[in-house]
Amino acid sequence: MPEAAQPNQFTTTSSTDTNGNVTAAGSTPAGGNAPAGPNATASPGATAGAASAEQPAPYGGPASAPAAPPRRIRTLDLIKAKAEGRRWAMLTSYDQYTAALFEQAGVEALLIGDSAANNVYGHATTLPVTVDELIPLARAVASATARALIVADLPFGSYEISDEQAVATAVRFMKEAGVHAVKLEGGARMASRIKAITTAGIPVMAHIGFTPQAEHNLGGYKVQGRGEAGTELLEDARAVAEAGAFSVVMEMVPSGLAGQVTAELAIPTVGIGAGADCDAQVLVWQDMAGLRTGRAPRFVKRYADLHSVLAEAVGRYVEEVKSGVFPEPERSFD
Ligand code: KIV
Repeated sequence: MPEAAQPNQFTTTSSTDTNGNVTAAGSTPAGGNAPAGPNATASPGATAGAASAEQPAPYGGPASAPAAPPRRIRTLDLIKAKAEGRRWAMLTSYDQYTAALFEQAGVEALLIGDSAANNVYGHATTLPVTVDELIPLARAVASATARALIVADLPFGSYEISDEQAVATAVRFMKEAGVHAVKLEGGARMASRIKAITTAGIPVMAHIGFTPQAEHNLGGYKVQGRGEAGTELLEDARAVAEAGAFSVVMEMVPSGLAGQVTAELAIPTVGIGAGADCDAQVLVWQDMAGLRTGRAPRFVKRYADLHSVLAEAVGRYVEEVKSGVFPEPERSFD
């Protein structure tokens, strides 16, 4: 479970103390161990003071009442953020440690992308990954977080056949992984899937522009929507919004067109290689943290060089094992 989380624009709550003062929340440990309300006690040992805790302390006391536990960011929060001109960040995550860390750092939405095919399972494309392979990763991410909205990708082959197949797969992610929304690729051609899933009560994030699951059909990693194709992309954006998607990822779309879509739609747009005018941005975490080496797509910004950090640490460990420096006496038992 995560340690104390940073407050952010969506989940900073306020509570009123016994003197009527409004106090900001946000310092409550995330993870469900926090007291459930202003008068709740954290442990049986604390009940000795419970009776007096219900009265105002006669000579002072804690500066503020216990903060309310953080609450999950909901799709409506993200839509409201757009209406109020506030941007938000999404990152991929496929495990508990990164999920908790990214949430603490203020990332509002975490995506268990089908890019796990490449970044976890070592495939060359996203096509081979299965529902059964993604669900355990999604479950780990969902259970390690308390505030972020958790979105799981529907992998290739798990929703294209029929609306019924799409709903059944989305239901599995909600029930077995505990995610809060699903993402699927495709614009107008997926409108009936989006409608069917949202009708079942499951929020859908759409994904248009370059859609990696269709890379063979699209002829490779190419910017989508240039020139006359811009009209089709605009129609895709309108179709997914009309079908009930709560947001739409635009991948490798010219900035001007992405800005136009963002201005037109009431739902938030999430850019990846779609310029600065989108309401939110998403990156694959191994790309932005520099764990993946080699040539990165143009839209990737490397904020760290994790590959070097890990390589150096592991190199020293190997050296110390071989030279007998590790384990030291203080790390050994008598
Ligand atoms: O699978 C993925 O990681 C994605 C994004 C990065 C948008 O779909």
